[in-house]
Amino acid sequence: GIVPIILAGGQGTRLWPLSRAARPKQFLPLVGPTSPYRQTLERVSGPAYTAPVIVTNTEYRFIAAEQAEEAGVTPATILLEPVMRNTTAAIAAAALFARERFGAEAVLHVLPSDHAVETDEGYWDAVDRAARAAASGRLVTFGITPTAPETGYGYISLGPEGTEGVHGVARFVEKPDVVRAEEMLAEGGFLWNSGMFMLGAGHFLAECAALAPEILAGAEKAVAEARADLDFLRLAEAPFASVPSVSVDYAIFEKTEKAAVIPVGFFWSDLGSWDAVWKVSDKDAAGNVTHGPATLSGTQRSLVVSEKAHVAIDGLEDLTVIASEDAIYIGRMQDAQKVGQMVKTLRGHA
Ligand code: GDD
Ligand code: MG
Repeated sequence: GIVPIILAGGQGTRLWPLSRAARPKQFLPLVGPTSPYRQTLERVSGPAYTAPVIVTNTEYRFIAAEQAEEAGVTPATILLEPVMRNTTAAIAAAALFARERFGAEAVLHVLPSDHAVETDEGYWDAVDRAARAAASGRLVTFGITPTAPETGYGYISLGPEGTEGVHGVARFVEKPDVVRAEEMLAEGGFLWNSGMFMLGAGHFLAECAALAPEILAGAEKAVAEARADLDFLRLAEAPFASVPSVSVDYAIFEKTEKAAVIPVGFFWSDLGSWDAVWKVSDKDAAGNVTHGPATLSGTQRSLVVSEKAHVAIDGLEDLTVIASEDAIYIGRMQDAQKVGQMVKTLRGHA
């Protein structure tokens, strides 16, 4: 079967103040009754898959294990990162574990744990085709038709079509500035990288050896010296901490010649920022979304989330108001991407 690799170690700073270092968004029921992490695990619990490899930060080990149990999932392992070293290190460590457990031929379905995805027929058809392409050595991503010049995504310039609707990647541009993003939209032929990948374990690790040897070397040591602890496998701290912190998009996908993309049409949303949460949520007649105690009057197209305090808003539009127990964020919906930057400035106070 396909080996699910679940990435659950991000901090989700753009969803501050609800998503915090101690309680990041993938574990929060932001859209629907369960968390996106749990929904991700449920998506990979069918017969096509082996037990999942979960990769997360040491701090999130109990919530990750608890929500896996709630989902009725017994992981192959929960790999614990002693420090955050971004997605290349996380995926490399998981791929090394999977190669050991399932063999170099194993196909890995790498999934962020903070996305909303509709698993219709088109979804499963794309998964099948991706798995075959990955087995033959391609590093496959699923490409989403862009709808706006978002700066939080990777952009893929579609290359020539091969068999089974699998395209080459002419160019991969991670997180462009807004001018570049607008240019790419105007030019056409670009897709967003969904951040969900299908990779042959051996092929991916070979590409890491070629393009990110330092990261691979550190991950190899961290896995070789890992220590079992209950249901967890703790990656060795010193070698893992020495690994450069670079996302897989920059370290591998912008550089590799083996990238492939499958254009897909199923519903997908990175719940990366508050405007994305607003977009996927059910709205009232005025286009508002509220979670928790709130009264809105003459207010439109706004998102209000409150954990405790009653929030009242009169006569405003396109707002995001997030009130956690000890912090309040108020911003314009259009500035949702800036929250992450703000949190960097706030660190130490928030
Ligand atoms: N285990 C682990 N360790 N997981 C991590 C780490 C880490 O250090 N850092 C991030 N993650 C997890 C996050 O929790 C998330 O599920 C996933 O990896 C992707 O990280 P993000 O931080 O959410 O990436 P992004 O949204 O900025 O960009 C990526 O996704 C976009 C689509 O949502 C890129 O792949 C873009 O190219 C893509 O368009
Ligand atoms: Mg994301």
